[in-house]
Amino acid sequence: MSKKLFIETLGCQMNARDTEHIIAELNQKNDYELTSSLEDADLIIINTCSVREKPVAKLFSELGNFNKKRKENAKIGVCGCTASHLGADIIKRAPYVDFVVGARNVSKISQAVEKKGTVQIDINHDETTYEFNEYRNSLYRASINISLGCDKQCTYCIVPATRGEEISIPPEIILKEIQRATQSGAREIFLLGQNVNNYGKYFSDQREKYTFTKLLQDISKIDDVKRIRFTSPHPLHMDDEFIEEFASNDKICKAIHVPLQSGSTKVLKDMKRGYTKEWFLNRCEKIRSKVPDVRISTDIIVGFPGESDEDFLDTLDVINKVKFDQIFNFKYSARPNTVAATMSNFVDDKIASQRLNQVIELHKKHQDELMDRFVSKVVNVYFDDLKPNGEISGYTDNYAQVFVQGSEELLGKFVDVKITQAYRTSLKGEIV
Ligand code: SAH
Ligand code: SF4
Ligand code: F3S
Repeated sequence: MSKKLFIETLGCQMNARDTEHIIAELNQKNDYELTSSLEDADLIIINTCSVREKPVAKLFSELGNFNKKRKENAKIGVCGCTASHLGADIIKRAPYVDFVVGARNVSKISQAVEKKGTVQIDINHDETTYEFNEYRNSLYRASINISLGCDKQCTYCIVPATRGEEISIPPEIILKEIQRATQSGAREIFLLGQNVNNYGKYFSDQREKYTFTKLLQDISKIDDVKRIRFTSPHPLHMDDEFIEEFASNDKICKAIHVPLQSGSTKVLKDMKRGYTKEWFLNRCEKIRSKVPDVRISTDIIVGFPGESDEDFLDTLDVINKVKFDQIFNFKYSARPNTVAATMSNFVDDKIASQRLNQVIELHKKHQDELMDRFVSKVVNVYFDDLKPNGEISGYTDNYAQVFVQGSEELLGKFVDVKITQAYRTSLKGEIV
């Protein structure tokens, strides 16, 4: 009889992909059926995030909840970035936790389930040539890791300490994985890494120069790949060759994440981001001039230590100039063992909250303007989700979400849709 697995994922797309790998690994040994009911689960896993204080607090509140509701003998495991970061301390704080497996140790999950008290958190562990079995949440879209870890040391960020040094997965393994995903129906490939456009700098073996641009070219040669997306590229590594490929390769979705963090060159320097306000604006202008329909998303941190009113005005200025289609905005959260956490000039929480609200309000205006431009246009949509109310949804080539009335037959198809209505974060349309 199959066992039941409850798995909760916090954090980013990389964690979501790790969850798929965890499920694939577990299924090699035992038959696991996913359940959304804690009470029924034989194995309960939480795949954690450390990037801000909030998800770490959530881990401990969730663990208490798991322990209360689990059935007798159900095991509890903690995976992901907070596992890497806190390791055995998690078991000290919550002794009912059976095992801890870090973000760089996913291949060890089956062993860990077998042995109570296992803590596998080596951030130097090399999984770049380990071939995980296939499992994915979506039939239509496949997330594929292209690198592990991060070679930057942004002063606010805990990720290099939880995911280790950057290392690239060999292209032949990536291409094989993509072939396999297309054979089981995926037409959209989502490439993942902390700095995807730094790809190829760090292979674990000696090989000829190979870049992210080349990887994009090689992936687009696979016939059944119809769309390619990636996250996150780093603004510093957005060279002209990369922008040229982004613009001219028809298979690459015309949506790009360009993480700003701050518009102030002084704050960017304190963050150790490696680029200036002018470089960031220049890259976005270049992308927009080559791809007029591009949708640009970004990440912004407000209230970084030492951020003055003037610095914050620079952030608003960049938002006004670029007009982002989507902003993921965060209040700075001090993380243990990072350089920024030792800075003395913290911004008052009230001021940080006000700045956050200003970003949100300004962005709403831009979103409305940008989404309105879709009305009456015909766009090509790849449908991937059926809603209980009879609507079906998918994404345009520049990654705006579109809802239409339709049936299951549309799933997995690319269909032209005329947009009839625009909302702030999605569109409504009719099949043409
Ligand atoms: N490698 C990616 C970022 C991964 S973390 C990149 O460089 O774009 C995702 C986002 O979380 C970051 O872009 C940043 O905006 C935010 N973030 C990271 N550390 C943070 C902190 N200490 N406080 C608030 N936000 C943070
Ligand atoms: Fe963190 Fe910077 Fe690396 Fe992104 S590039 S994961 S923000 S250290
Ligand atoms: Fe992702 Fe959170 Fe780790 S954002 S890299 S899961 S700290």
